[in-house]
Amino acid sequence: MKRALIVMTVLLSGAAWADGNENIAPAASNQKWKTECSECHMAYPPALLPERSWRKMMAGLGSHFGQDASLDAASAKEITDFLVKNSAERAGGKRAKKVLGSLGPNEAPQRISETAWFIHEHDEVSPQVWKRPKIGSPANCNACHQGAEQGNYSEHQIRIPR
Ligand code: HEC
Ligand code: HEC
Repeated sequence: MKRALIVMTVLLSGAAWADGNENIAPAASNQKWKTECSECHMAYPPALLPERSWRKMMAGLGSHFGQDASLDAASAKEITDFLVKNSAERAGGKRAKKVLGSLGPNEAPQRISETAWFIHEHDEVSPQVWKRPKIGSPANCNACHQGAEQGNYSEHQIRIPR
């Protein structure tokens, strides 16, 4: 019994390690998405939200987290198609699966940082840390994840600003 437990632990930490080294940048990028969706913050990985979240967000860009992020119809369509094609359902990979598994079937979160998956992965970050001036909010991924823009969230690339 004890032995089985040890084996389990080793297997689980092995899985976590593999996770941390999996790049989650979209397989092929899209210039319009890169430009338009990194104007106010980094372009977040499409694989960290389900299709229904992206569709809802793209239909409401006129009031996007208190800002007007609206686009012309052609750009909005191109970006929506790109986000859907690379969403958690389509991207594959362990993290995308975990994100999906953490959501109810009709839940369409508008924040990666509010998914149960995200909250669990970040449970060691205390509330005061999120509020540090150089961080500001959990949405500021690249404040701590040095490789965020390249889709690298490996634990070796985390530096939490003081
Ligand atoms: C305050 C700094 C900070 C911010 C901001 C932050 N993270 Fe993290 N992140 C961490 C820490 C610390 C961990 C836990 C690392 C560990 O336990 O190995 C983590 C873990 C992760 C992991 C899991 C890595 C793995 O091994 O699978 C992912 C993915 C991730 N963060 C994505 C994000 C995304 C996406 C955002 C923005 C929406 C974000 N993080 C914002 C500090 C941060
Ligand atoms: C005019 C500025 C602006 C533009 C352009 C913009 N956003 Fe945002 N976005 C925001 C603000 C402000 C927030 C909230 C940030 C915070 O809480 O720190 C946000 C938050 C988000 C979040 C939630 C982050 C989290 O997990 O907490 C996602 C996802 C997002 N934006 C996607 C997009 C996409 C996709 C596009 C391109 C179609 C886009 N944004 C373009 C201003 C913008």
